[in-house]
Amino acid sequence: MPTSHTIAIIGCGAVGSSIASALILRNASATILMVDVDNKVAKGETLDLADSLFLSTSHVKVGTYKEAGQADIIVITAGAHQKPGETRLQLIENNHKILQTVVTDMSPINSNSKILLVTNPVDILTHITQKISGLPHKQVFGSGTFLDSGRLHSVLAQKLGVSNMAIHCYVLGEHGDHQFIAWSSASVGGVPLLEFPQMKDVDLEKLAQEVKGKAYEIIELKGATCYGIGACVSSLCESILNDRHHVRPVSCWDEEYQCYISVPAVIGTNGIESIIGIQLNADEKKKMNVAVKAMKDIIPSDIS
Ligand code: LAC
Repeated sequence: MPTSHTIAIIGCGAVGSSIASALILRNASATILMVDVDNKVAKGETLDLADSLFLSTSHVKVGTYKEAGQADIIVITAGAHQKPGETRLQLIENNHKILQTVVTDMSPINSNSKILLVTNPVDILTHITQKISGLPHKQVFGSGTFLDSGRLHSVLAQKLGVSNMAIHCYVLGEHGDHQFIAWSSASVGGVPLLEFPQMKDVDLEKLAQEVKGKAYEIIELKGATCYGIGACVSSLCESILNDRHHVRPVSCWDEEYQCYISVPAVIGTNGIESIIGIQLNADEKKKMNVAVKAMKDIIPSDIS
């Protein structure tokens, strides 16, 4: 039976397919459209994913760019990967062109669609996609530091012996090298996180580096990451479809900083429902300003 919601996944590589698989396994009540420039890959992934549907309420089929443009949620994972010797700026140029083509091929995009950017460097590419799609800021956001925050939660949950869900602590800034942990507002069960005895001897800088380095470690071992981002993006889709108002650190347009950057935001039917004005101490504010400057410095001049 077809469902009323549609989630289009643009780019059927390991990331796109992991997101689709996670959506199916969490019983997203949606039809998932698999879209790729290589129709054979889209077809192959769709057939493979379809083998898991008998245990789920989701549906999956191959989609066109035009169909994707009418979806409730458009997840973009398409883009070039950084090659050895290639600068980040060159990667942005390549992916800017790819996004331009993707958005043009999907146009006219349904004015109610939410675009969820996953392609790296995600903060900049979310900014570019918002500009070229013309959709309101609240309808275009990126997976940002949600995954980094999840990685942090896993380490802290183990140290403190509490569930991940009990931890309120965010990795903010760039989903990349300019990320930082907002320790000053972190809490567990109403108690400031850093007051827990288990945190007394923890080297916070080392822990932050460990979280930041996790993707590099996985890429070194297997060439790419996919399952963590699959879990995060499928959860974000669920927050939108079911209007959950989850607070997640995602890459969204921040009026204060005038750029796309990861801050905690409320996610619901309208996309970014609101931004939680998290309190930062002086050191964290400095780190946020460094991240914002790094983003602004790199945005192509015809976009900003
Ligand atoms: C990672 C990719 C999604 O952090 O950037 O695993």
